[in-house]
Amino acid sequence: MASFAFPTVYLVCISLLVGFCSAEDPSVNYEFVVSYITASPLGVPQQVIAINGHFPGPVINTTTNNYVVVNVRNKLDEDFLFTWAGIQQRRSSWQDGVPGTNCPIPPKWNWTYNFQVKDQVGSFFYFPSLNFQRASGGYGGFIINNRNIIPIPFATPDGDITLMIGDWYTRNHTALRRTLNGGKDLGMPDGVLINGKGPYQYNTTLVPDGIDYETINVHPGKTYRIRVSNVGVSTSLNFRIQNHNLLLAEAEGSYTVQQNYTSLDIHVGQSYSFLVTMDQNASSDYYIVASARFVNESIWQRVTGVAILRYSNSKGKASGPLPDPPNDQFDKTFSMNQARSIRWNVSASGARPNPQGSFRYGSINVTEVYVLKNKAPEMVDGKRRTTLSGISFLNPRTPIRLADQYKVKGVYKVDFPTRPLTGPPQMATSIINGTYRGFMEVILQNNDTKMQSYHMNGYAFFVVGMDFGDWTENSRGTYNKWDGIARATTQVFPGAWTAILISLDNVGVWNLRTENLDTWYLGQETYVKVVNSEVNNKTELPMPDNALFCGALSKYQKPEDISLAISITLRGKGSKLLFTLLMTICAFISISS
Ligand SMILES: *[C@@H]1O[C@H](CO)[C@@H](O)[C@H](O)[C@H]1NC(C)=O
Ligand SMILES: *[C@@H]1O[C@H](CO)[C@@H](O)[C@H](O)[C@H]1NC(C)=O
Ligand SMILES: *[C@@H]1O[C@H](CO)[C@@H](O)[C@H](O)[C@H]1NC(C)=O
Ligand SMILES: *[C@@H]1O[C@H](CO)[C@@H](O)[C@H](O)[C@H]1NC(C)=O
Ligand SMILES: *[C@@H]1O[C@H](CO)[C@@H](O)[C@H](O)[C@H]1NC(C)=O
Ligand SMILES: *[C@@H]1O[C@H](CO)[C@@H](O)[C@H](O)[C@H]1NC(C)=O
Ligand SMILES: *[C@@H]1O[C@H](CO)[C@@H](O)[C@H](O)[C@H]1NC(C)=O
Ligand SMILES: *[C@@H]1O[C@H](CO)[C@@H](O)[C@H](O)[C@H]1NC(C)=O
Ligand SMILES: *[C@@H]1O[C@H](CO)[C@@H](O)[C@H](O)[C@H]1NC(C)=O
Ligand SMILES: *[C@@H]1O[C@H](CO)[C@@H](O)[C@H](O)[C@H]1NC(C)=O
Ligand SMILES: *[C@@H]1O[C@H](CO)[C@@H](O)[C@H](O)[C@H]1NC(C)=O
Ligand SMILES: *[C@@H]1O[C@H](CO)[C@@H](O)[C@H](O)[C@H]1NC(C)=O
Repeated sequence: MASFAFPTVYLVCISLLVGFCSAEDPSVNYEFVVSYITASPLGVPQQVIAINGHFPGPVINTTTNNYVVVNVRNKLDEDFLFTWAGIQQRRSSWQDGVPGTNCPIPPKWNWTYNFQVKDQVGSFFYFPSLNFQRASGGYGGFIINNRNIIPIPFATPDGDITLMIGDWYTRNHTALRRTLNGGKDLGMPDGVLINGKGPYQYNTTLVPDGIDYETINVHPGKTYRIRVSNVGVSTSLNFRIQNHNLLLAEAEGSYTVQQNYTSLDIHVGQSYSFLVTMDQNASSDYYIVASARFVNESIWQRVTGVAILRYSNSKGKASGPLPDPPNDQFDKTFSMNQARSIRWNVSASGARPNPQGSFRYGSINVTEVYVLKNKAPEMVDGKRRTTLSGISFLNPRTPIRLADQYKVKGVYKVDFPTRPLTGPPQMATSIINGTYRGFMEVILQNNDTKMQSYHMNGYAFFVVGMDFGDWTENSRGTYNKWDGIARATTQVFPGAWTAILISLDNVGVWNLRTENLDTWYLGQETYVKVVNSEVNNKTELPMPDNALFCGALSKYQKPEDISLAISITLRGKGSKLLFTLLMTICAFISISS
């Protein structure tokens, strides 16, 4: 036994010492135990996915260049993966946490993500990417702060508040999955949660007694950075704070031209930072509202999240009606104009000292164009599915990136069409061939009657245009070639298009999908494979030692390595002590062997 243990200890010593020595950039460590808890956010007990017993999970708080180490212990009865919405995972789709790149973490297993956050600052979130689990929780905020030497384009806020908003069903994710598998629509959600909590009882008819609601405590005269992410299943939400202006400052890692909004539409998967000044007289508390957008308010009344903003000198409870949402159920022009008004501040610095707009995307020649069209769910091979350009994506048993690494043939095809297919819809594992260092134009054409959000992993793209109707070549004349926002999630209005430009500088295999959980689950996604023909560690990091195996590569999977899990656990705590301890052990081993 002892002779067996030595190589393992050696390995741990070496890897840890190397880790310590080359760690110019500090690492931040998180231990995430993922389990079910029983919670009743809307007054109905249900099983919710918690992290370390909390729902939502902790906010991951990092600074540009940090190494982020997250040890995940899956205590669910299902496979699990975290994905990091908007975190670019530069050079490492190995850490991206979607089924096209990573094998799942089986129940009862530990797995450790280890990646560097680079060239980004801003507000993002993480969530479970498999099996519809996000509908049961398991999400949390993810902040990347600027390094001290890089200024931010506003005064340092007096506080930093993260709000996760999203529609919510009292049915759990397995029940919702069953509904979709049965060919049915999910129907209207049962409510909207704010930080995992139900609505404040602003109306005794509409909100039952005993619901726990979120309270945000503030001081008069101070300015707070409020980061808001829509982590819900599929509902666009209008966000507003009674009597307070929302000064928009950041969208998914880009500083915006700062403008006041009384309310902002936040679509599924999107994140924003607002600077909110507590400039009211605190005659009462104030409502924080997130309500369903583009719906008949009298039917959808219950799909409204309400939290409380409480000044330290507040004179009483919030009362009266909620602040009004935009009154335009059938006219989405206001909302689209609002989206267009969100501009990049091209003179503000981003993660690096140079101004963020110094990358002049408008003058770069496009190398490839894809028109991706989605439709309402339809029958494909006898199942109710969604499609992208006529193809309903079939997740491979062997992740694409892993199949490439081990030269497994026949897992997928790099034949995604540049224009929507016109024939009958089909199921396929068909992905896009992205040219490394190319500049790709993607037109997202939404032929469904519901709003769709599109997200790309590994990248921030430039949102250069959106309009109603069908995109044509002439539509390019309307593109914003100067200060379109760079972000990872854009809305595409029903019966409308959105055009994005992507600089393909991040090697790997990257998921391009709708962020609406139901349409994503039914197949509205693909991957973009970006290959540098000259393989090297500068453009893509090697496969991590702890990579999991599955599908055609299952045979390579070793039983869970407990020693590694323990060393990583220890590493999270008192690292100096551990360093000394390890030095001693390593020295001892080298002497005695
Ligand atoms: C989900 O809900 C169903 C009832 O609809 C229940 O049988 C099942 O145990 C629940 N599963 C989880 C994981 O919460
Ligand atoms: C994040 O961590 C920094 C210190 O590294 C701290 O100053 C800041 O307040 C933290 N932010 C949040 C939102 O916890
Ligand atoms: C843009 O950023 C610059 C540089 O930080 C800042 O001075 C300016 O106020 C910002 N402009 C707007 C409109 O937000
Ligand atoms: C509560 O909501 C109901 C249903 O919309 C409405 O009829 C009633 O006027 C509301 N009550 C108050 C006090 O606003
Ligand atoms: C935004 O509104 C606040 C008041 O809430 C005001 O002080 C500020 O000047 C406004 N900023 C802009 C850029 O309009
Ligand atoms: C406080 O503000 C509210 C709403 O703006 C106003 O109705 C009220 O008169 C103000 N109270 C005081 C004491 O200024
Ligand atoms: C909203 O729904 C109510 C109740 O079903 C209905 O009476 C009303 O006409 C609807 N409003 C619109 C604008 O469709
Ligand atoms: C873009 O293409 C045009 C002609 O098609 C060419 O003149 C120009 O130099 C190219 N620009 C860049 C930046 O490559
Ligand atoms: C992908 O595109 C590159 C050129 O950008 C080409 O060399 C390569 O053969 C293509 N791969 C496939 C599988 O089509
Ligand atoms: C979908 O596309 C068809 C054919 O182009 C068009 O007639 C229809 O209006 C579109 N519907 C939506 C909601 O975009
Ligand atoms: C990449 O790095 C790994 C070790 O981290 C090394 O084994 C491999 O040879 C390197 N590959 C190249 C092409 O440099
Ligand atoms: C998984 O990690 C936990 C700490 O989070 C540790 O206590 C446990 O021993 C690990 N389990 C295995 C099987 O490695």
